[in-house]
Amino acid sequence: MGHKVTCLDTDEGKIRNLEAGKIPIYEPYLEEVLAESRKNLTFTSSYSEAIPGSEVVFIAVGTPPTPSGAPNLEFLSQAARSIGRHIDPGFTVVVNKSTVPIGSGNWVGSLLRDAVEQREDKASIQFAVASNPEFLREGSALHDSLYPDRIVIGADEPHALEVLYSLYRPVIDQTFPAPSYLPRPEEVAAVPLLSSDLASAELIKYAANAFLALKISFINEIGLVSERVGANISEVGRGIGLDSRIGPRFLNCGIGWGGSCFGKDTAALIATAGEYGLHLPIVEAAKKINSRQRDRVVEKLLLELKILKGRTIGLLGLAFKPNTDDLREAPAIEIAQKLIDRGVRVKAHDPVAMDRFRREHGDMGIHLCQDGRDVAEGCDALVLVTEWSEYREMDWAAVAKSMRTPFLLDGRHVLDKEKLTRAGFHYVSLS
Ligand code: UGA
Repeated sequence: MGHKVTCLDTDEGKIRNLEAGKIPIYEPYLEEVLAESRKNLTFTSSYSEAIPGSEVVFIAVGTPPTPSGAPNLEFLSQAARSIGRHIDPGFTVVVNKSTVPIGSGNWVGSLLRDAVEQREDKASIQFAVASNPEFLREGSALHDSLYPDRIVIGADEPHALEVLYSLYRPVIDQTFPAPSYLPRPEEVAAVPLLSSDLASAELIKYAANAFLALKISFINEIGLVSERVGANISEVGRGIGLDSRIGPRFLNCGIGWGGSCFGKDTAALIATAGEYGLHLPIVEAAKKINSRQRDRVVEKLLLELKILKGRTIGLLGLAFKPNTDDLREAPAIEIAQKLIDRGVRVKAHDPVAMDRFRREHGDMGIHLCQDGRDVAEGCDALVLVTEWSEYREMDWAAVAKSMRTPFLLDGRHVLDKEKLTRAGFHYVSLS
């Protein structure tokens, strides 16, 4: 879009790898976009190199959860202080891109002010803090950056909003040349921009994730009823979603959400509300239902196999969803641990997350396999945990033959029951 961008990370190894064109995470097209934009990108670990001369500084540090549910703001505070020590005289917009508790904009402003106060040239320095929450999904973050449903910017100073508006203008008007590997979808013409005060922008982020999380938990709760009354939950989901007030997405019944966002952000929203003496029973229920879905996997396996001790069970997929190698709060890990605790031998495969799994969870004792076929070999049951497309297209008849008992639990409700049954499987889903 013509902007010059400097990426700063205090992890020098990560910066060296990025300089060499190596991407630290898996995500389609990241290598392509890095190669294409290399001439406008600089990588550094030095604040004095990155900050002076920048008109806009995005803080995009991690805010991992603490045991209380409130996010750890240590990295945010370090970044804010360091930026305050290095911004140039003139006007700089400092943007909270990290998902931060409501009120953090004010807090970052005070940290910046403290740092600026220590400087001799403090009189010439002007800055404003803005919130610009991200709504990117892992695995399709690039698509969501170029063709977002909306852009939200919040600031208490109008000039900060103007600067961000001009920064995002090519996206808002969709005037940038679309990359060949991610063509502009036909329906994308212009992107709505919502500008608000700081606190509203911060709350929009948490409320959006909480709503998506509860949409999933809602369909999983309806899935329980659907199972008992003999209804088809996929049809029920479609029938609900065709109401334009509800919308069709995030109504897939299954083992529930994983990843670093929904669990963390719902916990943070509950923690923030608690600071004001408020309870959020709907958000709390969404979390409980999500964790119950993992238990239901074990219950279904118990019901079918009667005894779990000594069984071999295969998991198809480890990442928390397809197109990413992220394993944070991945349902596969929770389910595998529950099974291992019950004396099960667990086999698993994932198309991209196995290296990361070896590094982060190598001590769990899960037997990693070359592919889905290899997982199934000799298993008493197979669980589809992550709906990677390659699992949908397996030679299911051959898979069934290679198992000790051809039992398949479709944790994502994506496989064709009739086809699987014809292939020789006893097919079960979570509703
Ligand atoms: C989520 C939001 O979708 C983004 O808008 C937001 O920016 C991001 O969090 C964030 O806060 O950073 P993400 O966690 O990457 O994005 O992934 P999603 O595509 O939302 O999926 C989350 C989980 O929900 C996955 O485990 C997925 O399998 C599960 N899911 C999704 C369901 O169980 N059922 C559904 O119908 C949809």
